Amino acid sequence: MSMISRTLVPSRANREAVRFRSETLTCPIVCLRTVSKITFVTGNQGKLSEARERLEPLGFTVKSDARGYTEIQSDDLLSVCRFGLRELEGSLEAPFMLEDSGLFVDALDGFPGVYASFAYGTLGNDGILSLLRDVEERSARFRSVIGFQDGSDAVFLEGIVEGRIAHEKRGDAGFGFDPIFVPEGQERTFAEMTQAEKGRLSHRGQALDALVDHVNADGQG
Ligand code: IMP
Repeated sequence: MSMISRTLVPSRANREAVRFRSETLTCPIVCLRTVSKITFVTGNQGKLSEARERLEPLGFTVKSDARGYTEIQSDDLLSVCRFGLRELEGSLEAPFMLEDSGLFVDALDGFPGVYASFAYGTLGNDGILSLLRDVEERSARFRSVIGFQDGSDAVFLEGIVEGRIAHEKRGDAGFGFDPIFVPEGQERTFAEMTQAEKGRLSHRGQALDALVDHVNADGQG
């Protein structure tokens, strides 16, 4: 069975919208038409909390699993997710999901991009701000790709939020680069927003919305 995921992106990013063709994986689990419980494979408590906030009011239960998976060296989030899902296949009861995200700063030719986790651990927010000292053009975007395995199919859903890098860190909420990222049309950084506010704007919130649309559409199929 083949499916195409819906991809929701904000207006300025429409031209970049990517539709990922799903791949049928050989998963020895009975196909579930109605998904209510999803295992999120992540060790990132921020991502987990955001997924719960977004999905649980819609009737999903989000169970966490921190077993980890190989994050291959790739300059593309989709490849990382695809490899991770395949690796987990057979060792984890479906439905399950994982998510890979990155921050792409235009003035740095897209750095840190898919290496955001490494860059955060080494440079941190202060390091990114230093790289952008005296730089006026500060546009950037977060991208998120969710890989979801329902037991018979894998689908990949993307969310993008355009924005800019602030001139200084602001706010205590969230995680990672939240204190330096200001989404388009806003003055506050993600770290100055509640988790619900961030979720309505963020790359992850949009990818999660696309996941819900996919699951609901599939349940009617
Ligand atoms: P990965 O998806 O686990 O590879 O991690 C990507 C890295 O990007 C995270 O460790 C964070 O540093 C950063 N990141 C991803 N999403 C967000 C977000 O929503 N807010 C702030 N930083 C993020």
